[in-house]
Amino acid sequence: MSICHIHKVSPSVGPGRNRPVRPGSCRCESDRIGRLWPDGTRNGRYRHGMPCKKRAYRPKNLALLCRRFFAGMVKIGLDIGTGFVKCVCDHGSFRFPSLYTRRINGQWTDSVSEAVGDRAAKMLRTEGTTAISPIYRGRPQKQYQKQVEMLVKESLDRVYRTTHVPGLSKARVVVGLPYEAASYKNSLTKIICRDPRVQRCDVVAQAAGTLVVADKSTGIVVSIGQGTSEIVVIEDNKILDGRSLEWASEFITRKIGRFAHLDTSLLSRHRDVCARYAKALAENLAAEVTDVVSAHGYEREITVSGGGILIPRVRQELAARLKGFEIEVPEDPVMSNAAGLYRLAQ
Ligand SMILES: Nc1ncnc2c1ncn2[C@@H]1O[C@H](COP(=O)(O)OP(=O)(O)OP(=O)(O)O)[C@@H](O)[C@H]1O
Ligand SMILES: [Mg+2]
Repeated sequence: MSICHIHKVSPSVGPGRNRPVRPGSCRCESDRIGRLWPDGTRNGRYRHGMPCKKRAYRPKNLALLCRRFFAGMVKIGLDIGTGFVKCVCDHGSFRFPSLYTRRINGQWTDSVSEAVGDRAAKMLRTEGTTAISPIYRGRPQKQYQKQVEMLVKESLDRVYRTTHVPGLSKARVVVGLPYEAASYKNSLTKIICRDPRVQRCDVVAQAAGTLVVADKSTGIVVSIGQGTSEIVVIEDNKILDGRSLEWASEFITRKIGRFAHLDTSLLSRHRDVCARYAKALAENLAAEVTDVVSAHGYEREITVSGGGILIPRVRQELAARLKGFEIEVPEDPVMSNAAGLYRLAQ
């Protein structure tokens, strides 16, 4: 006797109780358990021999179903910095300027052009362009929510474009914020979750990412960003203490120009300016690091990340003032926070 006959296939009560089973309308055990390939073959037949008429169970559609099911979520580590947005995902990484521009197009039209990222940096060269940095000292500005949303959208567009993930796959995002910007957690999460592609978003102290990438669970990270320098103390993967300082790359790059940080070759050409102000930056950072380290009594080893450490003379000046310390710099200090956030998303 086939399984079909053992289990009731028609309603157990009511008028259709003992109606015979029609091919393709089977709801027996073999149908429920072995939904995709009930008879273990590719001929689209059930174990009881009835031909399967449900198209979705046919092998052609099975491949599609499996792809969607196993593709899972797209994992993204997102570092929306004052100077640059850094993004690491399953298929690579990229960065673009944390910049928004707007321009009224000439006298013959009312049209307005707006852009973020690389397009915004290009637009800067045209006359009559207004530029806004939606992130200030690592924090998304309240009055620039729309612009921050555009930066998030640009990141997700690039992820989805470059990875060729099926449009249906949702994203799991881990994003960073400065240590002293915990109060921005909810507003940033809301902005990111407004994008329909995002299923889940978590916010962590951004500098922690660098330690994750270094495969350490305990240590001190100093991250010299464009608008904020972070000192974060981590013990057994828990953030114990930290500081967000105003002494950051902007202190040097502003002396060259408002958007000098976007062009690293410009910094190399103005080595003398960098050297002069790197001293003051290093002096202040070193004093803060010494203060934090003495409060926690750690080993004299620190990991330094952030694009600021790549500005001419900053690394040398910092090392000269932290003589008793062993300074470790990740292979890519600009992307290391984002890379760690991506690891946390996995
Ligand atoms: N290769 C490089 N050489 C010199 N300077 C660099 C290089 N790469 C980045 N920078 C500098 O690093 C700074 C930006 O660093 P980073 O991207 O870590 O800051 P951010 O994350 O945008 O800012 P924050 O963390 O403060 O919000 C800029 O001043 C930039 O000019
Ligand atoms: Mg940063």
